[in-house]
Amino acid sequence: MTTTHELRQFYDESYRRATAEGDRHLRWRQLSARGKADHAIELCERAELSPESVAEIGCGDGALLAELGARGLAGELHGFEVSEEAARIARTRGAPGLTGVTVFDGARLPVDDDAFDVALLSHVLEHVPDPAALLREAARVSRAVVLEVPLEANLSARRGSKRSGAAEIGHIQSLDRHGVSALVESAGLSVREELLDPLPVEVHTFFAASGPERARATAKAGIRRALFNVSPRLAERAFTLHYACLCQ
Ligand SMILES: C[S@@+](CC[C@H](N)C(=O)[O-])C[C@H]1O[C@@H](n2cnc3c(N)ncnc32)[C@H](O)[C@@H]1O
Repeated sequence: MTTTHELRQFYDESYRRATAEGDRHLRWRQLSARGKADHAIELCERAELSPESVAEIGCGDGALLAELGARGLAGELHGFEVSEEAARIARTRGAPGLTGVTVFDGARLPVDDDAFDVALLSHVLEHVPDPAALLREAARVSRAVVLEVPLEANLSARRGSKRSGAAEIGHIQSLDRHGVSALVESAGLSVREELLDPLPVEVHTFFAASGPERARATAKAGIRRALFNVSPRLAERAFTLHYACLCQ
């Protein structure tokens, strides 16, 4: 059983390591944030929601808050984090409309019911020992929840090297769509809008260190996109897609 203290230490340490990586890490976070913001904005638009206030639970270093603020998703944004170090970086980074970043215990948010129009859980549930409980807490403090997770219960992610990579960054859940549906249902919510993303070529090639590696990553991205276009279901079983949904 991991204590809140151990959880904090784990994420504090990983944010310190990431900061030491410098510019490359910053660019990676900005690139990832653009895709995640595209998803959150598209889901709100499809559901005809124009939130005035958005809380990001597990906001990390605030890259997504900054992107959402710049793109005007809501007039007020608030971050919640378990890691003091991540919260410090998020406050320093800032975001248009950011009202603050609160450190919490990972279970109970120190705010009233329905305090926000939308709560966002972006790439957080796979890090959490009891994701249904955190989702219920997100639903308690908001009128709609947008969640995004990598669907890692697939053939490619089952390989040993992929599993240890995921464990190293704190993934303790491996979800497929069925698993997400079960979580959503157990939180008393239902999915109103959803989307899948096989990720753009820029994401697949970001860590390529040489010409040949870049060519391989470009080919891989093309194959994945083609399979996804033919059969999203088959693609989901073969490799990791990002899944996002808006629940109420
Ligand atoms: C992969 S990062 C995602 C950061 C950001 N949401 C994004 O999408 O860019 C996962 C974050 O979840 C946080 N986290 C871990 N356990 C959590 C919990 N129980 N409640 C809230 N956040 C948690 C970690 O500290 C980390 O910042």
